[in-house]
Amino acid sequence: MLLLENIRETQAFLEEKGMVKPEFGLILGSGLGELAEEIENAIILDYADIPHWGQSHVVGHAGKLVYGDLSGRKVLALQGRFHFYEGNPMETVTFPVRVMKALGCHSVVVTNAAGGINYGPGTLMLINDHINFTGTNPLIGANLDEFGPRFPDMSNAYTKDYQEVAHHVAKDLGIDLKEGVYLGCSGPTYETPAEIRAFKTLGADAVGMSTVPEVIIAAHSGLKVLGISAITNHAAGFQEELNHEEVVEVTQKIKGNFKGLIKAILAVL
Ligand code: HPA
Repeated sequence: MLLLENIRETQAFLEEKGMVKPEFGLILGSGLGELAEEIENAIILDYADIPHWGQSHVVGHAGKLVYGDLSGRKVLALQGRFHFYEGNPMETVTFPVRVMKALGCHSVVVTNAAGGINYGPGTLMLINDHINFTGTNPLIGANLDEFGPRFPDMSNAYTKDYQEVAHHVAKDLGIDLKEGVYLGCSGPTYETPAEIRAFKTLGADAVGMSTVPEVIIAAHSGLKVLGISAITNHAAGFQEELNHEEVVEVTQKIKGNFKGLIKAILAVL
């Protein structure tokens, strides 16, 4: 199957570049990519140079794959992810997670900037579950049996043990880590106030345009998942207007806590 061949080709390419046996995949969302700059003994590749890899065009996304040591762990970090709203097929959006699994990662840390439904700007929210509101599913199509089952269980997509560790670590650092459900839309529009009222009723605490596809693929292949949202704004209807500049600006303010938290969590996972 073509997808499988592509995964193997990219895996072989990255291994040949020295990106061998990473333990943790890190997917760094809007404005959060700076964490990758702290990776030691780094091997860095431009997305453009990696076979079968997508391209990242959003402001605040660097488009680099960084391998190396962070908090004593071997990590493979995506500085910028691929969004569905850019016109990427879901296969491209989730391809890096497939490759992380193929390279030997046992876990992924997924991060994003999100609108707060029950939390305000500046909050770090541990994702304990999600609602897939993208209108599709990245596993539609022939199943990759080598990776996981046709009908994967999503009951424990976000690893419980990791959530406990995250709370302990946050407490030690004096970070007020909240917890909740992330609802993923396709974007690129922000939501309408009516949609946000509906999502609140559905049980969502935060809303965004990413993460859900990657976590579905991770869960399918048995990767453990830790998810963290940086809440950058009140979701539509709870504040005057929404814009990307504000998202970038608030992310700048919380990235210090964000980086500290992820590094400290990685040290104990
Ligand atoms: N909605 C969707 N995605 C987002 C938001 C939002 O309010 N803020 C940051 N990403």
